Amino acid sequence: MEETVYNQEELYEMLDSLLREPEGFWTDFYQDREKSIPFFKNAPDENLVSYHTQRLIKPGKVLELGCGPGRNALYLAKMGWEVDAVDLSSTSLQWGEERAAENGIHINFIHNNIFNLEIAEGAYDLVYDSGCFHHIAPHRRLSYTGLITKALKPGGHFGLTTFCPGGKFGGAVISDWEVYRSGSLQGGLGYDKARLERIFSCLEPVEIRNMIDQDNSSQVFGLSDLMAALFKRL
Ligand SMILES: C[S@@+](CC[C@H](N)C(=O)[O-])C[C@H]1O[C@@H](n2cnc3c(N)ncnc32)[C@H](O)[C@@H]1O
Repeated sequence: MEETVYNQEELYEMLDSLLREPEGFWTDFYQDREKSIPFFKNAPDENLVSYHTQRLIKPGKVLELGCGPGRNALYLAKMGWEVDAVDLSSTSLQWGEERAAENGIHINFIHNNIFNLEIAEGAYDLVYDSGCFHHIAPHRRLSYTGLITKALKPGGHFGLTTFCPGGKFGGAVISDWEVYRSGSLQGGLGYDKARLERIFSCLEPVEIRNMIDQDNSSQVFGLSDLMAALFKRL
């Protein structure tokens, strides 16, 4: 490789190369399905369920970013949404396909990096991300917000759950500059309400709060060390 930066994409690729390679990590991550990982439980996010219960969102077309084994995609499909669910890990998608087949549900699982998606302008009523955004490097954040505003119809919603700063499961409290000095996202970045409002200032906040903890018997997933946010595209 020549290692000369001629354009923006090459600059991003150079910065990516300073950090952990995500695809190999996430493919290995799902090899052992018995690991004690909170989100391996097949239960949808409590906030996503509450958006339905409160009628803040109603079924249409949804794009899920970093869907993993598809627990939220499954819920959305059961609620009547047409679901496109993207992840770069083939092992997570295989698991998701199996879960969908067991439930007799169709989900359009897409094996891709979210930044390589070809998205038609205004194609979606909802974009949902549970746990992918905090693994996105700072230099990709503008592409991420651009992807969301492009994907959403006017009046469409963006739902997010993400590490809060210093949480039990992750949420590094480091500056963006420190990410590159240390060569690591340190397991995922932490975001508080003010930072989320600023990053997603192109959207209108509807609700930003901590997720509500759930016990083992719950049919939904919730950890108060995660922030749950819903925004609307004007
Ligand atoms: C913490 S897991 C959450 C999985 C799932 N959303 C859930 O809550 O069960 C983060 C997921 O994001 C995916 N991911 C990370 N960066 C991605 C990218 N650039 N494009 C697509 N998927 C990505 C990973 O492969 C992983 O499955």
